[in-house]
Amino acid sequence: MSFTLWFTGLSGAGKTTLSRCVYMELRRRGLAAELLDGDLIRNNFSSELGFSRRDRDVNVRRIGFVSHLLNRHGVISVVAAIAPYAQAREQNRELLETYVEVFVNCPLEVTERRDVKGLYARARAGQIANFTGISDPYEEPAAPEVTCFTDREDVAASVGRVVDYLEGCGLVPPADQCRLVETCEQDDRQWRNRLARLGYARAD
Ligand SMILES: Nc1ncnc2c1ncn2[C@@H]1O[C@H](COP(=O)(O)OP(=O)(O)OP(=O)(O)O)[C@@H](O)[C@H]1O
Ligand SMILES: [Mg+2]
Repeated sequence: MSFTLWFTGLSGAGKTTLSRCVYMELRRRGLAAELLDGDLIRNNFSSELGFSRRDRDVNVRRIGFVSHLLNRHGVISVVAAIAPYAQAREQNRELLETYVEVFVNCPLEVTERRDVKGLYARARAGQIANFTGISDPYEEPAAPEVTCFTDREDVAASVGRVVDYLEGCGLVPPADQCRLVETCEQDDRQWRNRLARLGYARAD
């Protein structure tokens, strides 16, 4: 029943947005799931790493390994991390028993226009080196299990497609077969606020 669901794509493509929604839906269905967002991981596991190919690969391998440990004990791992290099992603595919890759596909001009974190402007101004899509490569997945076109579909449609895929392979039971946990959003928010208070995460 356990698996790793990895959202890969450019900065601003929608990995955090989609992974959070899918994760909440899994929790709502009463499933044991953890959300490993790239930012949270870099702050707490990989703060010494930069953005060279080596450092990015080490980071992606670490997330893969933690996911493997979670999966081993029945916890679904939902990951949102750019993971720009195909080879590192394929190493994780090898390690993880059930690896579902979601390509959050959005053209660079759209992610750059969104510039959610203001990083593209800084990268264009030469203030950030090794920025994926600008001064660093992004190797598109050759055979992702699911592709979400976030420039053309809304969040609900993308989330629906991922959940449909998981249901279709029998990895997630349909909602009407689950005892729904309607307090999951509130529980999660309280937990994240606690992490933020203690300096492990940013507040929403
Ligand atoms: N279909 C869609 N799916 C996801 N996000 C969408 C979609 N349509 C529009 N958006 C918007 O695109 C933005 C995506 O930002 P988000 O922080 O999720 O990107 P990210 O991939 O996690 O980037 P980063 O790698 O920098 O963390 C959000 O503002 C979101 O509202
Ligand atoms: Mg993100």
